[in-house]
Amino acid sequence: MNTTPAPNRLIENLATLIEPLTLDRFIGEYWGRRPLYLPGNGEQRFNSLLDRTRFESLLRREDVIVKATFNDYGNMGAVQGGINNEIPIKHDQIDCLRAMTSVTLTLSSLQNVDPILAKLTAGVKKQLAFSGLVESSAWLSKPGTGLPVHFDECAVFMMQIEGKKTWRVSKRPAVNWPTLQCLLGPDREPLYHGFLQGDFELNAEDWLMNVGETDESQFITFTMEPGDLCFLPAGTWHTTKAADEESLAVNIRLPHLTLWELFSRALKKDLLNREEWRHMPVFPYLNTKHGFDEVLNTFRRQFAGFQEYVAGLDPNQLDFTSVWMDMASEMDALQNPPTTIEPDTRLQLAKSRPIYHMTKHHLEGEEITVLANGKTIDFFEPEFIPFAKTLLAGQPFSAHQAGAWFSEPKDWEETQGILETLWDAGVIESAD
Ligand SMILES: [Fe+2]
Repeated sequence: MNTTPAPNRLIENLATLIEPLTLDRFIGEYWGRRPLYLPGNGEQRFNSLLDRTRFESLLRREDVIVKATFNDYGNMGAVQGGINNEIPIKHDQIDCLRAMTSVTLTLSSLQNVDPILAKLTAGVKKQLAFSGLVESSAWLSKPGTGLPVHFDECAVFMMQIEGKKTWRVSKRPAVNWPTLQCLLGPDREPLYHGFLQGDFELNAEDWLMNVGETDESQFITFTMEPGDLCFLPAGTWHTTKAADEESLAVNIRLPHLTLWELFSRALKKDLLNREEWRHMPVFPYLNTKHGFDEVLNTFRRQFAGFQEYVAGLDPNQLDFTSVWMDMASEMDALQNPPTTIEPDTRLQLAKSRPIYHMTKHHLEGEEITVLANGKTIDFFEPEFIPFAKTLLAGQPFSAHQAGAWFSEPKDWEETQGILETLWDAGVIESAD
């Protein structure tokens, strides 16, 4: 086996992460469809994302949330508390936990604190224009520990850094695009996280009931070694077990939003302009004989009004694109610290947050709209257009250079003001 140290190649987007598989093949064959296991053939290419030293220092940072999961062969903890039956850990307990033999330590939301994982997370989100909030976490599993059979409500990429972990996964999602996590209970019945067992029947929705039999003999088995990657679409059954040494892995989770959320946000924006949609009727005589008939008739009438409203809608009236662009640019991300930009400060278009831009052509010229973390910045004055174009090309630069990018070059004071506004909006970040 080739055990040469990892080449220091940056992995900042999905295409690089899944190499040699192409993005087109990934989307066509795996995304939302079936799991992918991509062996690294001994090339430890994920060491640039995380290694033991960085894991240990992240573990001890006060702003990192550490959780512990204890091995539970009977799944009882998970049955009672859901698969996320993790215990939040105080920092003075970490050394004690590190010494325990049957624990998995999880560090979550690392895209908020770690620049390398922030860039990968933002790069994955941007390359897919994924509308949900993408997250990254790290897992340190003691030998022999693992999780019982479950599926998650989101797609996930796992990158093995150290040690080995065996995965058993279903060939297809048990449910396409679930909105809840699900654990296989002691009698192999599906238990949804967020539903108490007793409440399950009351709360069950149609799609939850379609999980069907889970035949574990049909699961695929593979052992993740350093440099290996696997991808599971949301709803894929899986169970894990670390081998006889500690396993360190990093993952990227993609919790998806639904089309319903897009349309409901866009409709809400429009409907709340009308007073009848800004309140809910009251029913003071509910306890009389015809009380419920009144409720039913009122809502039927309102629904008929809603159907009429939808039928008369001009699709241009609802700004789906801008609602969607807000979603695609929103990220729970690493923030820029407050700063004063000096002439020699090295800057670049942000990579730790997904930045999108659109160019519109008018009779008077161009207009460039930049979206960063749900914020919109419009460049419409002609003198700003060459500045915006140079910035969006993405090359690192020294702050003082930017003054020359305007059609009328700007002095340092004005350039500094513009750059600090872009810094505060998260459009640019330090290039160091
Ligand atoms: Fe999982």
